[in-house]
Amino acid sequence: MSELIQLGAVNERPRAPRPEELELKFSPLAIDELNALKTHYPNEKACILPGLWIAQREYGGYLSAPAIAEVAHRLSRSYAEVEGVATFYSMYNTAHSVGKHMIEVCTCLSCHMCGAYRIADHLKEKLGIDFGETTPDGLFTLHEVECLNACDRAPLLQIGDQYHGPVDGAYVDRLLDEIKSQDSTVVQLADSIVKVHLQHGKS
Ligand code: FES
Repeated sequence: MSELIQLGAVNERPRAPRPEELELKFSPLAIDELNALKTHYPNEKACILPGLWIAQREYGGYLSAPAIAEVAHRLSRSYAEVEGVATFYSMYNTAHSVGKHMIEVCTCLSCHMCGAYRIADHLKEKLGIDFGETTPDGLFTLHEVECLNACDRAPLLQIGDQYHGPVDGAYVDRLLDEIKSQDSTVVQLADSIVKVHLQHGKS
């Protein structure tokens, strides 16, 4: 096996639930939203992306195998097709369950030049976790992300649907204290995106 192939991490995926294991957890509101979205598009396949956002909200921020299976079931698609879409886009949380608050640290060029890795190291030390990990109390998940398209605010963080920047260590400390007591920003972000789809999804 070539060295390049060996460098890649194994992407273990959870097993798809069998039909008899399927448990449907969408709330009545979520079912209404999905039905409304189906009318915005020419077919159910086109509803996979907003359907996944509904699932990400309904399942607490994480697209587990049962969450993906429910979207597939409700849109009459195969599990493999919906999982393929969900795992293609990094904004869907499919790799592991996430904390209440996802802290996304941009480390692209402008943010890098303005000290993004100093901020990242500060966060890692303060939270005791690395990128891609969640604190043991389930409050925070830390992710490294590509350019968030607000380079004039570098170094920049995204938490839920809010941008924070430019940030320094003191700003980060205040921010962590403030958001600890807030509702899940991960779920709030998914809900905001569902609402945008409902308002603007009509073709
Ligand atoms: S480089 Fe960080 S927002 Fe563009």
